[in-house]
Order: sequence, then structure tokens, then C-alpha cells
Amino acid sequence: MDIHLIAAVGQGGELGKRGALCWRIKEDLAMFKSLTMGFPIVMGRKTFASLPKVLPGRKHYVLTRSATPLQHPRAESSGQVFYFRDFEAMLAYAHTAGDSKLFVIGGGALYQSVLPQVHQMFLTRIAASDPEADTFFPDWDVDAWELKRTSMLAAAPVAACMEHWSRKCD
Ligand SMILES: NC(=O)c1ccc[n+]([C@@H]2O[C@H](COP(=O)([O-])OP(=O)(O)OC[C@H]3O[C@@H](n4cnc5c(N)ncnc54)[C@H](OP(=O)(O)O)[C@@H]3O)[C@@H](O)[C@H]2O)c1
Repeated sequence: MDIHLIAAVGQGGELGKRGALCWRIKEDLAMFKSLTMGFPIVMGRKTFASLPKVLPGRKHYVLTRSATPLQHPRAESSGQVFYFRDFEAMLAYAHTAGDSKLFVIGGGALYQSVLPQVHQMFLTRIAASDPEADTFFPDWDVDAWELKRTSMLAAAPVAACMEHWSRKCD
């Protein structure tokens, strides 16, 4: 099972504020769609609640310790949303479902707890700060990772690039 992570981070590691993204960059959202399409996306309960809709073409694996998980409008009818109490239970299900790859899409709490198990990271680096941010990407050891590729987001309204990182073999 390939465990990928995808995130958009500001200069200070900013991810979100007041339950929403700090930045919504069209080109970045298009890359998110292109990379994740067809694969399960794994998210924390708060990120799930922040989605405007269930995203087409991707199973949603939502992590929550709650016995009565929040139901997103249209989640039940979509048949695309699955709830898990922890990451291991989600992985076990993914194996039985035949998933070969999945994307951890946030937010900060989920990134923090599963980063040690992630194999590849796709980080959009945004050359801006947001003093109102309340959610941040966790600290990570850059020496444990190899930068495979950097591509500029040429049409973005702020300077931004997508970095593809792969965990170094032990
Ligand atoms: N910039 C980006 O790329 C990006 C991406 C995604 C989200 N965001 C932003 O990040 C913010 C949300 O992040 P957040 O850190 O507040 O919340 P979150 O990680 O989305 O959700 C946290 C909740 O998820 C559940 N959870 C997390 N880890 C778990 C685990 N290992 N096992 C079981 N349940 C787990 C818990 O739910 P219960 O409390 O129900 O138990 C926890 O309270 C929003 O502002 C959002 O817009 C930004």
C-alpha cells in the first residue's frame, strides 16, 4: 500500500484558518484533483466537514473517534464515504478493498499522527504567510526525505511550487 500525503503550506507551515483553507489557488486545486482522482482520500473529521461537497471519483476515508460521526450532506447517498476509528482500521479495510495507493489530504491533526507512515509527499509551497492561520503542517525531518521534483505553479496569483518528496530507504 503506497501512502501518499498532499498538502498546501504557507511559509510558516500554515494550512488553514477557522475551518477553511488559507489559500485557494485554482492551479493547486486542479493538481490536487489530477493527483488524487481514482484513489481513496483519507481525511480527519474536521477536513471532511470543510468540504463543500463529496468529491467525485474518490472514496472518502474519514477518521473520527466519535461513535456518531458527522454526516456530510449527501454523504450517505453518495456511497463514497467510510468512517474509521483509527488509521490502522482504515488501512486494514483498504487492503481488503484492494486499494493500492491512497492520499492523506489533511488536516493538521491527521498529518501529525500519520506522517511517520507516509511514503511520498506532494507539498505545494506557497510563498506567503497568513497571520490568522490556526492550523499548521507538523515539523518533519527533511534529512529523512529526498526531493524528487519541483514544479512551479505558473498561473498562481502568488508564487507557489509543487514539491514531490519521497521517504529515503533505511
Ligand atoms: N492546506 C491544506 O493542504 C489543508 C488540507 C486539509 C485541511 N486543511 C485545513 O486544516 C483545518 C482542519 O485541520 P484540523 O487539524 O483542525 O483537523 P483534521 O485533522 O481535519 O480533523 C481532526 C479530527 O479528525 C479525527 N482524527 C484525526 N486524526 C485521527 C486519528 N489518527 N485517528 C482517529 N481520528 C482522527 C478526530 O476527529 P473526532 O474529533 O471526531 O474524533 C480529530 O478531532 C481546516 O482549516 C482545513 O481547511 C488544510
